[in-house]
Amino acid sequence: MSRAASHAEAAQRVAQLRGEIAAHNHRYHVLDAPTISDSAFDALLRELQALEAAHPDLVSADSPTQRVGAVVAGGFAEVRHDVPMLSLGNAFSDEDAQDFFRRIADKLGRDDIAFSVEPKIDGLAISLLYLDGVLTRAATRGDGSTGEDVTHSVRTIPSVPLRLFGAEWPPVLEVRGEVYMPRAAFEAFNQRARERGERTLANPRNAAAGSIRQLDPRIAASRPLAFFAYALGRIEPDATWVQHTDMLADFRRYGLPVCPQAARAIGLDGLLAYYRRIGDARDQLPYDIDGVVYKVDDIAAQRELGFVSRAPRWAIAHKFPAREEQTVVEAIDVQVGRTGAITPVARLRPVQVAGVVVTNATLHNENEIRRKDVRVGDTVIVRRAGDVIPEVVAVVLDERPADAVAFEMPNACPECGSQLAREGDEAVLRCTGTGVCPAQRKESIRHFASRRAMDIEGLGDAWIENLVDLGYVHHVADLYALTLEQLLEMKRRADERDGVVPETVKKGKVASRWAENLLAAIDASRKTSLPRLLFALGIRDVGESTAKTLARHFGALDRIASAADADLMSAPDVGPVVASRIAAFFAAPHQREVIELLRARGVQWEEGEPLAAAGPLLGKTVVLTGTLDALTRDQAKERLEALGAKVSGSVSAKTSFVVAGAEAGSKLDKAQALGIPVLDEAALLALLAEHGA
Ligand code: IVH
Repeated sequence: MSRAASHAEAAQRVAQLRGEIAAHNHRYHVLDAPTISDSAFDALLRELQALEAAHPDLVSADSPTQRVGAVVAGGFAEVRHDVPMLSLGNAFSDEDAQDFFRRIADKLGRDDIAFSVEPKIDGLAISLLYLDGVLTRAATRGDGSTGEDVTHSVRTIPSVPLRLFGAEWPPVLEVRGEVYMPRAAFEAFNQRARERGERTLANPRNAAAGSIRQLDPRIAASRPLAFFAYALGRIEPDATWVQHTDMLADFRRYGLPVCPQAARAIGLDGLLAYYRRIGDARDQLPYDIDGVVYKVDDIAAQRELGFVSRAPRWAIAHKFPAREEQTVVEAIDVQVGRTGAITPVARLRPVQVAGVVVTNATLHNENEIRRKDVRVGDTVIVRRAGDVIPEVVAVVLDERPADAVAFEMPNACPECGSQLAREGDEAVLRCTGTGVCPAQRKESIRHFASRRAMDIEGLGDAWIENLVDLGYVHHVADLYALTLEQLLEMKRRADERDGVVPETVKKGKVASRWAENLLAAIDASRKTSLPRLLFALGIRDVGESTAKTLARHFGALDRIASAADADLMSAPDVGPVVASRIAAFFAAPHQREVIELLRARGVQWEEGEPLAAAGPLLGKTVVLTGTLDALTRDQAKERLEALGAKVSGSVSAKTSFVVAGAEAGSKLDKAQALGIPVLDEAALLALLAEHGA
């Protein structure tokens, strides 16, 4: 927009930008299906900020630039709930659920009752008041009749719309639901806090509650919170929904996030089947739940059933077994990881936690062990949350034996005797015996062979252990020099040590099929790709995605190995820390030797040109829009980039051409308005074919 944009033009553009930003935000945070890059999104936001700065009278509370406001002075204001926020009765067993169902079936006089069935999200109940479609107030449940005004915090949650979508919503709409912290975000938050020696959050529920109940909205804004809508408060005019599930469908239409696992079930069998299905999926869900909720779907029937004290008769929470149990710490060991990180581990008296026997729990690092003061002999609360490693939540101090002594971290590596050291102000102690320490070597070989790295099938932990202990394998390159005789000798010794009669000796002949298979698997792994190899090398902080980025950006291992920190940082997502890790890795003579040996022993990977330095489309900026038939958007992007093009998320005068698939929208319009060439899918495929991509 030109500098002399009139006020009317600015107002129009501001409205358009707000609409676009809200829609992209919704696609990213609610639908999990973004259609533009982060940088293109940021560009839209910056344009809006600039316009609002130039025209302050255009700023409004529902603008996406206004999510984080001022610190609230003088504490939280009270909010009276016009419609009380109720709680739910609990069912702890199938029988309890059956009793609930029978009461309803008897009262309604039929058995084929439909229910809205939903996960019971473990977070903080919140009421959102939308007046004329604009988020006006957010409040906690409090005691059910009076809560606290937490509008400033809730506004910062990206999936909560500041303005409802469309125009069909009732003028007064109070939506209720749960603010929660997704599990991955919670884990990442704590991981970072631990590395910095900062306070960790106890669990996702406390994390959500603690983040919302803050006077400074920047705290909530810095925490990755999310929201699911599941109930109704005040509404004007009166609701016309026939069923609860119709209401949830409308909530979705208004742009409110509704739990994707919410469903409909018929009869008692339907309820119990849902309970099992969600229970089985519990560990894979991205959020914590403590049960499922059954709600009679028919709203007239809800009214007929009514309430008992503070809970509805038409709904109940069917709880899952607790994720936390008590047990006793029998010992505390320390483990040495691939990069030398020392992790104290509690050996526990075996205990069932949510259906799985737990015998070990991580104590993370020295700070954590000291903070929790876990001692051998202590009774502790252990938590298993999803597929995360079980952890000790807290010590039950009342049960501590009189002679329990505080745990001391060792001074030297328990595996190789090397000194332990801390980097900077890191909380983690590391073994300094890199390249020597057998524990580090075993872990790096294990990582190297793992499925997502070199994928050597059949090379299990026990074999790695034996191969290193026997001195057959010192580092990953030695795997490619192993012989059949060595493998058979290893097996013979292992059998001897374990006192087993070797079942591998039959009719005087040594069975060697497994060893041949293992050698074949090792051989098969020789042909690999640069991203896999880079990941397999086990460079600190270089996970799969960074490995891919580096491979794509530099094209060849030697170029990465010889790059200075500044060059490394030119790759997307590589910051100073990761750059220094990569540089340090390749600076170590030992690592260079290993790489040379890998090459010498026949490990091969494809190499190519660095991304920006070559290709027929070098210097071209391409925008993809709409849906393609033959390729996903990522595939199209990858192939265009392989030819040197830069793929961007938004159309501007700098765009060289736009690829428009089916249902291309505003980007196509813009390209046409700017006179930018537009290719359809067939033309794109022809272009790619022409250049052999
Ligand atoms: S419905 C009248 N649905 O559980 C019914 N509650 O013990 C009101 N919760 O305070 C609640 N997920 O914080 C409902 N899908 C869901 C829920 C849910 C979690 C929480 C909510 C409520 C508590 C009741």
